[in-house]
Amino acid sequence: KDEARIAELVGRMSVAEKFGQLQQLAWNGETGPGGGQNALVAGAARAGRLGSVLNLHGARETNALQRIAVEESPLGIPLVFGLDVVHGFWTTFPIPLAQAASFDPAVAAADAEVSAAEARAHGVHWTFAPMADVTREPRWGRIAESSGEDVYLTSVLTAAKVRGYQGPNGPAAPDRLAACAKHFAAYGAVEGGRDYNTVDVSWQRLRNVYLPPFRAAVEAGAATVMAAFTTVNGVPAHAHRELLDGVLRGEWGFDGVVVSDWGGVHELMVHGLAADGADAARLAFTAGLDMEMAGTHLAENGPRLLDAGLISEERLDEAVVRVLRLKSRLGLFERPYVEERAAPSGPTAATRAAARRAAARCAVLLKNDGGVLPLRRTGGSLAVVGPYADSPDLHGTWAGPGESRFPARSVLESLSEAAPGLDIRYAGCGEEAVAAAEGAEAVLVVVGEPSALSGEASSRADLRLPPEQERLIAQVADTGRPFAVVVVAGRPLVVEEWIDRAPAVLLAWHGGIEAGPALADVLLGDVPPGGKLPATLPRSVGQLPLSYDHERTGRPADPDHPDRPFTSGYLDLPHGPRFPFGHGLSYTEFAISAPRCASPGIAVADLAAGRRIEITAEVTNTGTRSGDEVVQLYVHDPVASQVQPVRRLRGFERVTLRPGESAEVRFPLGAEDLGFHTANSTEPVLEPGRIEVYVGADSRATARLDLTLTG
Ligand code: IFM
Repeated sequence: KDEARIAELVGRMSVAEKFGQLQQLAWNGETGPGGGQNALVAGAARAGRLGSVLNLHGARETNALQRIAVEESPLGIPLVFGLDVVHGFWTTFPIPLAQAASFDPAVAAADAEVSAAEARAHGVHWTFAPMADVTREPRWGRIAESSGEDVYLTSVLTAAKVRGYQGPNGPAAPDRLAACAKHFAAYGAVEGGRDYNTVDVSWQRLRNVYLPPFRAAVEAGAATVMAAFTTVNGVPAHAHRELLDGVLRGEWGFDGVVVSDWGGVHELMVHGLAADGADAARLAFTAGLDMEMAGTHLAENGPRLLDAGLISEERLDEAVVRVLRLKSRLGLFERPYVEERAAPSGPTAATRAAARRAAARCAVLLKNDGGVLPLRRTGGSLAVVGPYADSPDLHGTWAGPGESRFPARSVLESLSEAAPGLDIRYAGCGEEAVAAAEGAEAVLVVVGEPSALSGEASSRADLRLPPEQERLIAQVADTGRPFAVVVVAGRPLVVEEWIDRAPAVLLAWHGGIEAGPALADVLLGDVPPGGKLPATLPRSVGQLPLSYDHERTGRPADPDHPDRPFTSGYLDLPHGPRFPFGHGLSYTEFAISAPRCASPGIAVADLAAGRRIEITAEVTNTGTRSGDEVVQLYVHDPVASQVQPVRRLRGFERVTLRPGESAEVRFPLGAEDLGFHTANSTEPVLEPGRIEVYVGADSRATARLDLTLTG
């Protein structure tokens, strides 16, 4: 029925109306240069020359514009309203990087579901999320919007987000959104971590590292995909036919909408690929792009390009059908408007509780010497110091409209509320902070970077804390008081200068609207910390890019023999990261058994046919408190026809256990887990031989089992 309606509509559309459906205009200029096309929007909608609007929200506001499109335009085709609902609309959840630290797809799903319901009620149909970009570059500010450095973790969380936004019955439901996997592809590989910079990656790395999360998004049903701003091996992603038409459409069968990023078509001229706007439109459109965001090159030049035979009518109709299908999938032909009185005017107790649970699950306990944490709840004095101790700047980058209306509660406020029996003494920075520390029995130092220092166009060359914050930590250490440091940040920071002097460190990220209460929960031990690093913590910016799953080298460094010459390392740095990927402690201890497999051999033909091999392990809480552990499974292929990563995460499970309690975790491994991609392979290459399987609590896990793949 839908397809018939779409075909009938397309049959009645003029060329200008068709190109109009491929046009997205910006309601304001907040998420890109220029913009502010408000004055054009109503006229274009009335003329039936507009498919979509971004950055407008509000039930009344979107309904008013929708009414023009539906009731005044010749064909009455509804608009689709898009917005970056990245980690919350009213209720800000932790930044996506923090969500990845939870190693819990339910956290990502909870954010997506709450965000979708709030945004849809305010007239938004389409979110430009999730970000599926893998990155090994903490200098890149957009690492905050990513799930970090790992392919598998990013794939799992991206798929969870897509399902959460779009819902089990699809995005026509009144509390769901269409998702957009962005930025296709390899945006996270920008050279030097500088935003919008060049990307030059081999095809084998594209297929093994950067493409799988997008494929996971497509398989989870993502309605749309956004092109990346960057070049990929010499061709801007917006005009990358091999990626858009070849991989995304051809290999993966994606039939949704590919939207440009803001001004991405125009930038084909700035890249020097296109001579003028018409050329830019032709290049992007023939490569596979369907809708242009903020720029107007396609709508302006499309009819002439069509007349000149530079683009085909079939291609035009294909793109228009995809846009109309998106609207149909969203139920907009039946229900173009939202109920104005039903829209929630802010976070509710339930959405706040969900955000609080999520934020607590994202915190990573980096160290806890002498059990400084959890804090004593009563009967003592605690100095709470540092520039982020009483700061509401916890929402993080790309927070939704809720950020300006509903400030986050600070750590200080939340701790005071949660532990009225504690004698809390606050001082921000400087001598007062040191004096407060000296006079208290224990100290909490809350340091970090503001939300504005991560996110788009927020790359940093120096990842250390500002000198005054490092000095404060040193001064607190000099007092001899037991203390813990809480780090509020949008990326992994370089902590080398001070980490050895701090007995306990909790990486809290930008935890969203409920970050303060969630941190109080964790600091006081009401909720056990159980997050793990989704990105390696480097020792120095000089090591970047850095990831645990680097390929084998011919002269690897041996951490046990740091002075051995002619090995791959730096003369002026100890080998390896400060904290490895997957690291994170608890207030209790865990023992994880060696991996087991009932029958550790499988034929490659069986794997290729979809069979799996199951690995199990037992995890036991050997400590005295309840706690969470994330059991992680890594694989390594020791001899292969293509050089392999030293290990790859292929399974994880977060469990909560009481003291003495055990659980069995199961990891089914299939072809994608045990094979690898070459530059040309569309499916994983499986080679007979041995595969090493490691199970443990971080990427340095040593307990091993060997599997045999037979020919
Ligand atoms: O969705 C974003 C994208 O990630 C970066 N440029 C602007 C878009 C729309 O706001």
